[in-house]
Amino acid sequence: MTQDEMKKAAGWAALEYVTKGSIVGVGTGSTVNHFIDALETMKEQIKGAVSSSVASTERLEKIGIPVFDANEVASLDIYVDGADEINANNEMIKGGGAALTREKIVAAIAEKFICIIDDSKKVDVLGQFPLPVEVIPMARSYVARELVKLGGDPCYREGCITDNGNVILDVHNLQITNAKELEDKINGIAGVVTVGLFANRGADVVLEGTANGVVKS
Ligand code: 5RP
Repeated sequence: MTQDEMKKAAGWAALEYVTKGSIVGVGTGSTVNHFIDALETMKEQIKGAVSSSVASTERLEKIGIPVFDANEVASLDIYVDGADEINANNEMIKGGGAALTREKIVAAIAEKFICIIDDSKKVDVLGQFPLPVEVIPMARSYVARELVKLGGDPCYREGCITDNGNVILDVHNLQITNAKELEDKINGIAGVVTVGLFANRGADVVLEGTANGVVKS
């Protein structure tokens, strides 16, 4: 089974959590694209979606699923999204696709976070995947210096402007054993919009596509 087939299996498995008449929180990335394909089969039975990126919004609208502004929605039953890394406590690194801030907002609105992954995303310790941090452009150098003080090695993601008009620093060489604390510390640096650590609000359900089928945890 290829990695993409595992992503597809996880994406389609998430359909089981979609309730009729609901508005669904939809994340961003190649695994979520499979979920969006699956959602098309239920499009007459849902009210619509709240999306975490321009890319997912375009994909949803193209197949005729109405996309609501997050401000129009008081709560969501579920938010379905991928991850770049996830540990045994369901704490995640996200933001490989630069959509971390909107992902965090939609995840916060939702009752349940359904994380869909292929089997390459499970790790013992977070940090092998560089940790994305969305930063206001004028604070880029200051935030980078503060991230060095925290033991990281920040790298400016060249040519990347987020949907919110900001830049991304990818922090290499971290061994994240205290994800909640690090999330709070980085979010407290002036000029940081948000860090791609999803620890204080982790996943509630993980659907992992493997060579032997989808494993739920
Ligand atoms: C985007 C994300 C994605 O969920 C993450 O990058 C996983 O992507 P993929 O499903 O393509 O492996 O956080 O900002």
